[in-house]
Amino acid sequence: MSKQEIVVLASGTGSNFKCLVDAVNDGRIEARIRCLITDRECGAVDLAKQYNISYFVLPKTNDKHQNLNVQAMLCHGADLIVCAGYLSILNPSFVSVFKGKIINIHPSLLPKFGGRGMYGIHIHQAVLEAGENETGCTVHFVDSGIDTGPLIDQAFVKVSSLDDAYSLQKKVLDQEHILLPKVVQYLLTHLPQIS
Ligand code: GRF
Repeated sequence: MSKQEIVVLASGTGSNFKCLVDAVNDGRIEARIRCLITDRECGAVDLAKQYNISYFVLPKTNDKHQNLNVQAMLCHGADLIVCAGYLSILNPSFVSVFKGKIINIHPSLLPKFGGRGMYGIHIHQAVLEAGENETGCTVHFVDSGIDTGPLIDQAFVKVSSLDDAYSLQKKVLDQEHILLPKVVQYLLTHLPQIS
């Protein structure tokens, strides 16, 4: 049987993309990464080059169908589409065509600290300002909203009085790197029954 295929979308340093590559390489994920799709030159692209993985940098364009078609072609037939720090909002048609196959990792315990403006360090600042004593990360299915799709799994991090937003970000990111490959492998073995 041919290997299942994952497409990764990322716009950042790519540490979650790298943890997926590592998990594929050491057999924790039994699949191959078909390609990386990104919306900008970023660390994830450097990693794709380093690991010899195909990558596509979508051009900035006002024609919203241009990138939609490219994205759809690249994802056609893929078993799982993983948003790992992808900053562009996915086109609703794309989300509806690939419904149930697109997941996202978010660095908070959704539904808390999700939605517009909740990205990067802002999330951890908001967690501290709200006086939370626990935070973490969430993997969820992507729907047409921002960070609103059904939750799949979460990992938890204690907030200590010594934490600032950056230390919290680091602690949460460490948990993301454990959670994401685990959920990806779980879904790859269970998705045929889900979708
Ligand atoms: C992660 O915190 C992820 O949860 C969020 O964006 C960040 C991407 O980090 N969606 P990296 O580029 O994988 O290091």
